[in-house]
Amino acid sequence: MRRQPWLYALAAGAFLMTGANAFSAGPFDKAIEARQQLMKDIGGINKAMRQATDAAGVAANADKLAEAFAKVNEETFPKGSAEGSRAKTDIWEKWDEFAAAAKNAVTLAQAIATKARAGEDTAELVKGYGKSACGSCHRPFRAPKS
Ligand code: HEC
Repeated sequence: MRRQPWLYALAAGAFLMTGANAFSAGPFDKAIEARQQLMKDIGGINKAMRQATDAAGVAANADKLAEAFAKVNEETFPKGSAEGSRAKTDIWEKWDEFAAAAKNAVTLAQAIATKARAGEDTAELVKGYGKSACGSCHRPFRAPKS
């Protein structure tokens, strides 16, 4: 059978593609992408909570924050997935503290939701959430922008 030149072209193309992938793709790319998207979503929800004009809006967004922070786990932060991201390796060296920071963000959001639904004033808690929830994890566990 005559060899088809297009087959060589195809094989060369496939080789080039895998070559390029091997260079740019790491084993944790998917997880890193997913958690960075999760964080972006969280940023949007936190903003929406701050901008909410009534207690129901505050409570609904606080619920969403609690739900989102439950996704900070071994799946979105698999062991050793620091390279190519701003996650510090300290996350896995001090996993209990990292997990506690995520839990803290959930608990604070739940407290906001409960208070908002009870008709209590949540202004200070909502305003402080960025510092109390986000900052207390970013400070120890997120590397500065490179
Ligand atoms: C339990 C720890 C933790 C908490 C709590 C947390 N973050 Fe993060 N956040 C991180 C880590 C770690 C990164 C870096 C992730 C990476 O680069 O892969 C990050 C990254 C981000 C990013 C950048 C995402 C991107 O585009 O790369 C944003 C935005 C963000 N966080 C917003 C927030 C906000 C807003 C809150 C609070 C409402 C919050 N985070 C709470 C750990 C946390």
